[in-house]
Amino acid sequence: MAKGVLPGTILVVFGITGDLSRRYLLPALSEVCRSANLPENFTILGVSRRDVSIAEVLGDNNKNLKHFTKLFQMDLNAQGDYLALKKKLSAIGQKSGAKPQVIFYLSVPPAAVLPIIRHLGQAGLNHSQAKLLLEKPFGFDLASARELITQTAKHFPEKQVYRIDHYLAKEVAQNIVVFLGSNALFRNVWSHRFIEKIVIIVAEKINIEARALFYESTGALRDVIQSHLLQLAALTLMEPYADVFEYEELPSRRLIALKALSIDIDKPIIRAQYKSYQKEVANPGSTTETFVGLTLKSKERRWQGVPILLASGKNLNDKLTEIRIYFKKKETSEANRLALRVQPKEGIELDLWVKEPGYERRLKQKSLAFTYEQHYERLPDAYERVLLDAIRGSQSLFASSGEVLESWRILEPIQERWRMGSSDLRFYKPGSTIEEVLKLI
Ligand code: BG6
Repeated sequence: MAKGVLPGTILVVFGITGDLSRRYLLPALSEVCRSANLPENFTILGVSRRDVSIAEVLGDNNKNLKHFTKLFQMDLNAQGDYLALKKKLSAIGQKSGAKPQVIFYLSVPPAAVLPIIRHLGQAGLNHSQAKLLLEKPFGFDLASARELITQTAKHFPEKQVYRIDHYLAKEVAQNIVVFLGSNALFRNVWSHRFIEKIVIIVAEKINIEARALFYESTGALRDVIQSHLLQLAALTLMEPYADVFEYEELPSRRLIALKALSIDIDKPIIRAQYKSYQKEVANPGSTTETFVGLTLKSKERRWQGVPILLASGKNLNDKLTEIRIYFKKKETSEANRLALRVQPKEGIELDLWVKEPGYERRLKQKSLAFTYEQHYERLPDAYERVLLDAIRGSQSLFASSGEVLESWRILEPIQERWRMGSSDLRFYKPGSTIEEVLKLI
């Protein structure tokens, strides 16, 4: 993307001192800046309640970002402060000549989101040149998500709302549609006629880190299944289409795939917690799950009878995000397995059966692998892509309100079951493998 084609932008960061900003946003901004991809007219306006210095806020990213960054101290609950923010934005805008767009990035606790959106609306900061860049969670169930979306729409039309699901922007996730659309070999067998089952896993080695408060009110189902895993499922199941780079098609195709999905409640649902969790959150008796395993089914003809297993957990033995496609075995041949590895060691791996060299007649399973690392020096981080797309105004790698609602609809039966206080929580040892936890049922 050539510099200069991007519109002048002021990125207003609510929650610049928070975890998400430190972990994802600032490093991504720093990299985009280092590779000279930021718009010419670019300002980061960090909003903070406390009086902090730019160096303190930017930390390791200070060198790359300090020239672009300004801070603005305000009380998020005071309407008057939003008017002061408006003045500040127009002063920055006037200095830069052409009127820049304003992107409000909200990385704040869920309860603070709607009040901020309302204040922005009341201060007239929801003009056509303004965008909202939102972090999940988008509600905590179907009803609250619907309410959040309805209330947000009163101030910002959907085309100005960008809901981040950074998994959509991971390079391998973007490649799924390209892989299926461009490789006839796989496109032709992408159905229940040839596929036995699909397994999608997001295993994390890290625990909940310093996010006890957030995690206690969230849990794995809301934190990652509702968003990242269901989006990976949608990308895997959606109808391949002709022009694989026609990204604008993506949200509606993902939505169709999500609409067809539901939980197979006849299959085991695993809800588990790692053993040191209650101590970490200082809540003995906490029932928050740090691991979920469940099976989906699709009512699309193409996926009839194909179980789609989703599993994700924290504090496991390794970090691995992978989509595994298990092809059917035929009487005369063995089953093959295709793995789309989202991270780490991004790539594609196909298990093949070969004759073991030698005098015996023996089959051996070997793999045929493509890794990005063999061919490319560096993959852009998902947040870099998300930021540039928000600046550019491309919504295809963001979650639409329809997708958010559908994903909550899919999870309703489980949430209902857990709300009724079902006592099916299992406990696993930190460092377990995903397979070990799945066996705990
Ligand atoms: C976030 C979740 O959305 O994704 C975190 O809130 C999780 O709990 C993270 O650790 C995983 O993202 P990544 O890119 O590190 O796999």
